[in-house]
Amino acid sequence: MSRYESEIKRRRTFAIISHPDAGKTTLTEKFLLYGGAIAQAGQVKGKKNTRAATSDWMEIEKQRGISVTSSVMQFQYEGYCINILDTPGHQDFSEDTYRTLMAADSAVMVIDGAKGVEAQTRKLFKVCAMRDIPIFTFINKMDREARDPFELCEELEHELGLDTYAMNWPIGCGKEFKGVYDRNNGRVIHFTSNTNARTATATEIELEDPALADLIGQAKRDQLVDEIELLDGASCDFDLDRVRHGKLSPVFFGSALTNFGVEPFLEEFLRLTTAPLPRKAGDEVIDSFDEDFSAFVFKIQANMNKAHRDRIAFMRIVSGKFEADKEVYHLQGGKKIRLSRPQQLMAAEREIIEEAYAGDIIGVFDPGIFSIGDTLCAPGKKFRFDPIPTFAPEHFQRIRSVDTMKRKQFLKGVEQIAQEGAIQIFKTPYTGMEEVIVGVVGTLQFDVLEYRLRSEYNVELYKESLPFEYLRWIVKEDEEAPALREEDLLLPNDAKLVEDYKGNQLLLFASQWSIQWVQDRNKGLVLAEFGGAKF
Ligand code: G4P
Repeated sequence: MSRYESEIKRRRTFAIISHPDAGKTTLTEKFLLYGGAIAQAGQVKGKKNTRAATSDWMEIEKQRGISVTSSVMQFQYEGYCINILDTPGHQDFSEDTYRTLMAADSAVMVIDGAKGVEAQTRKLFKVCAMRDIPIFTFINKMDREARDPFELCEELEHELGLDTYAMNWPIGCGKEFKGVYDRNNGRVIHFTSNTNARTATATEIELEDPALADLIGQAKRDQLVDEIELLDGASCDFDLDRVRHGKLSPVFFGSALTNFGVEPFLEEFLRLTTAPLPRKAGDEVIDSFDEDFSAFVFKIQANMNKAHRDRIAFMRIVSGKFEADKEVYHLQGGKKIRLSRPQQLMAAEREIIEEAYAGDIIGVFDPGIFSIGDTLCAPGKKFRFDPIPTFAPEHFQRIRSVDTMKRKQFLKGVEQIAQEGAIQIFKTPYTGMEEVIVGVVGTLQFDVLEYRLRSEYNVELYKESLPFEYLRWIVKEDEEAPALREEDLLLPNDAKLVEDYKGNQLLLFASQWSIQWVQDRNKGLVLAEFGGAKF
């Protein structure tokens, strides 16, 4: 195998998703710790600092008022080169979070053992499920009182429509948490809490070993044997193919904070996931091992340096090898370009890199030429990666410039920021040129918009919140059909027909109920939750 092939083969690129507080940061830190990328695990007390260290970039952006990024971290573990895409929690939640998932090949879903599936888990899961990427579940905080493991698995299946296969089974929880039973090799891993060390102290013992009762107590042993029997009888078989297609989620129980089961989880995860996956470009499939370089832009980050107005475009390398300063073809721009100042986030630091491979994420300086979803490929090639879907915003404002004389700057700024993908903008047939409806997934995006219009375009905003929370694209079956007018539709008072700047028509709704109302009364009207997507 060439070096080139082995470099790609050893890469794993995944996102960690969870509802805030389930333990995503703690688990990420433990991964980094095992990989030797950081020296000390975040202890409860010191965690705030450690968190700042690993997500420094995010903090800086926060201070500057930019949308919080989903940071990317790369580290090495037992021969693997691992790229973790972090997705921010709900207060920082934005479209970036969704788009980041487009760059991942699999996802680790962290669930709080006491809480089960939560609102944010559902949202993020939905996006992963759209792409059928493998989802591995880590049920965390077993060192605290947790819900019944059978009930937790059932909830995952029921709420997310995903089959589960428990890879290990917890023995007790809270103070009584003794470890896990590894179903693969029939052994019990008895853990001893060890917060700081790189590896938890774990003793392995056969289920049949009489010494097990001494270790975990007779009652716990008997209960475990009963539960395993029940589990073997009731659960579906392990099927790697279904795992790889996101239909069956391997479930692991553990505790990130106390290091129970984190390393076995990481090892199994690496064993069961694949090297970087191919991507579709229309009728073509671009394989990671193709010799030619290709990548797509999934995120654009504007830098708040007013003097330079520089931006960073984040791209996921789909195939081949990236070499600094080599010429690539930017399909949407129709030009050959050199990607300058390529950067990669290695654990805590941003580094200028010389080479990167399929599966890696790089950030390059963007002189204002890239948009979300753009394709880069080797000169001479002309394929286009399938577009990144536009996600339905959940918060809307009507905005205009306080100073009507600044209408031009206002529109230019709003359009520019929308083009970067930081906001979505809409208009109604009645909106004059001076007014725009802005939709965002996370409210932080409004703050970013206001900040940037003020600092970059010298425009103060007048804002009015709109009561809408849902948006649906109107699917046009016939491209030639004329645009719909409000009078063509039966709409309740809390729904509104709008248009985006590409001419697509959409409906805004204040409630789920009114979506249903419109669907029931407008036969033939097809509504879609994601725009521009082809899966
Ligand atoms: P997040 O990134 O998903 O938002 O969660 P994070 O890792 O920040 O963890 C949220 C809280 O849960 C933290 O406590 C963290 O220490 C705790 N935690 C994470 N994993 C475990 C676990 O396995 N067991 C227990 N008992 N707790 C866990 P905090 O008090 O909110 O944060 P801090 O004040 O300790 O920084």
